[in-house]
Amino acid sequence: MSVPVITIDGPSGSGKGTITREVASTLNWHILDSGALYRILALAVEGQQVDWGNEVDTRKIISELNIDFQRDASGCQVIYLDEIDVTKEIRQEKCGTNASRIAKFSLVRDELMLLQKNFIKSPGLVADGRDMGTVVFPEAVLKIFLTASAAERSKRRYKQLKEQGINVSLSAVLKDILNRDEQDESRDIAPLVPALDAVTIDSSDLSIDNVSQEIIRLYKARMNA
Ligand code: C5P
Repeated sequence: MSVPVITIDGPSGSGKGTITREVASTLNWHILDSGALYRILALAVEGQQVDWGNEVDTRKIISELNIDFQRDASGCQVIYLDEIDVTKEIRQEKCGTNASRIAKFSLVRDELMLLQKNFIKSPGLVADGRDMGTVVFPEAVLKIFLTASAAERSKRRYKQLKEQGINVSLSAVLKDILNRDEQDESRDIAPLVPALDAVTIDSSDLSIDNVSQEIIRLYKARMNA
């Protein structure tokens, strides 16, 4: 039997990461944080001073990436690039914006797709991103499109960044979110759109528990159907 995949796509700050962790922990499944891959690549592109418009050289960097996803003692994800802990650095808004710049390249998306497919492992995978249900895992057993109002998303992102000790203003976060939505929704390849068979959940007025329980309920209903 093939390994089941649940995809959780949506705009930045919709809570995909938190919900993905909750659902994966309930089911005891693996996680793919695909945004982290784009962010790590953006960091490497910046480090190697490759021009932001250079698609071919950006793609080349992917095969040289030495990425390691680990968990610390409290279960939090720790991400290493070339054995350096970049967990905090890649969460900076600047890195998200740069990730979005290289995410529009088809060579980059194709190459990262292979890497992402390698994350499928038994007993199951919860994958979060922008094109998990539409492009990378079209065979997913359940596809969620998670949204929330831009105001709510920026409030959440602001809180998250503050907790990580990253200094930003709420208005700057909102501006960045709107900017990134526009870039991700308007690109030609793998734009941010719900898969035709996705279930859309607006999390603006829902708690993390409400959303993750609803996803588990939908998954079990699919399994029993
Ligand atoms: O989800 P996160 O904010 O970490 O993603 C950073 C950026 O990476 C997004 O704004 C998007 O441009 C890109 N991305 C993507 N496809 C994915 C995941 C992320 O294009 N599956």
